[in-house]
Amino acid sequence: MVKYWATLWYKSPVLQSLFRRPVLLSSAGFFARRHHFPTHFVPDISGKDIFLHFSFGEYKTSIHIRKEIPLIENITGDFGNTIIIADENTAYIADKVRNGRDITRCILKNGEENKNWQSVETIIRAANQAGLGRDCIFIGIGGGVITDITGFAASIYKRGCRLVFISTTLLGMVDASIGGKTGFDLLGLKNLVGSFYPAETVYMPLFSLSTLPQIEWKSGMAELIKTAILSGDDFLELLFPLAANFDDAPSLLKYDTFRNCIERAVNYKDSVVTEDFYDFGKRMLLNLGHTFGHALESAAGLGKITHGEAVAWGVVRACELGVTLGYTPQSRAKKICALISSFGFECSCPHPLARDTEAILHAIKGDKKKKIGKYSFIVPDETSARVVEIDSDDTKTLVDILAGGIRL
Ligand SMILES: NC(=O)c1ccc[n+]([C@@H]2O[C@H](COP(=O)([O-])OP(=O)(O)OC[C@H]3O[C@@H](n4cnc5c(N)ncnc54)[C@H](O)[C@@H]3O)[C@@H](O)[C@H]2O)c1
Repeated sequence: MVKYWATLWYKSPVLQSLFRRPVLLSSAGFFARRHHFPTHFVPDISGKDIFLHFSFGEYKTSIHIRKEIPLIENITGDFGNTIIIADENTAYIADKVRNGRDITRCILKNGEENKNWQSVETIIRAANQAGLGRDCIFIGIGGGVITDITGFAASIYKRGCRLVFISTTLLGMVDASIGGKTGFDLLGLKNLVGSFYPAETVYMPLFSLSTLPQIEWKSGMAELIKTAILSGDDFLELLFPLAANFDDAPSLLKYDTFRNCIERAVNYKDSVVTEDFYDFGKRMLLNLGHTFGHALESAAGLGKITHGEAVAWGVVRACELGVTLGYTPQSRAKKICALISSFGFECSCPHPLARDTEAILHAIKGDKKKKIGKYSFIVPDETSARVVEIDSDDTKTLVDILAGGIRL
């Protein structure tokens, strides 16, 4: 019913002028949250589209932060040499993009638990079956899971083909779709296999966020908070007022607020990636909260909590570590943790879904960033964050943190 009215609203300017939008949005949002229906709202969009261009070594990426979902004819005219990859929840966006044209489609199961080799192979088989050449375009339409596996498949199909993303989650827009990291999970470990392969164009259509479930808004918010911590306190301050209305996701669909946040996050990430594409230095900062977060995801079971929930929990642990080691001012740590908890993230330790401290420690030991004899963590500092290394023999501080023994 809610979906019916909202769709009617979407299509009818007369209805839109008869009723005041915020009332309809908030009541429909209430039902959508309770029943986990996808919502169909009209975002309050007034600003101009934004085009950004970045170069990473030999690669160039154009980013389009825009209102509309792009149509295939705006992306390519080579319809016979294109494959669209989406998941069950973004298949409807893929249909809009296809615009009635006969284009090979590959619809995968959604969720982190499907970010695996089988999904990569499914894409490659579909491309091969359609007879696509190495000059073909892979178009990944979805959140970070779809863009990570589509990017990886594109990087190996016939030794590399063209790649375009249409990012459809907040998390994808502010982080996962940009910077060229691709990959999939293996052996229960996050992103164990991957490549560096940026998309040539990334579309970020704000309209696509109108169906995003509240839990995924929240997940994206965690990466936004992470980026704000890294880029400085003025960005962080911008996020505090968002928490007040966060329960009502549709009312957050204010183009100007989110366009601004997404643009800032994209610009920050790209400045870091341009400087350190292959992740040997400054780019490691983007992993703030991720060593603890990935370990929590692995220990809880991949797909049991969202990536953002894990990152938020990980940032709190990184604050505890930073304060314990003397790198994070306590006042900044408290401010960051207050922001995270104001969005309703689970901050307590042990986490209710992964009480086994040993399992988390084990996952930390398998972290990609680990060097011989050292664990690397990113902790907030006075204005941004820094990399700290801990001797792998000296796990006492980590054990204390994971046991919930450190209070800020
Ligand atoms: N490559 C990178 O640099 C990078 C950075 C951060 C995160 N990541 C990865 O991104 C992944 C998380 O991304 P995510 O949070 O976007 O998760 P996701 O791709 O799993 O999407 C979350 C859920 O929302 C659904 N969905 C997506 N768009 C929708 C829409 N518009 N309407 C309705 N439903 C929609 C999806 O089907 C899925 O069920 C993780 O695997 C993480 O490791 C990668």
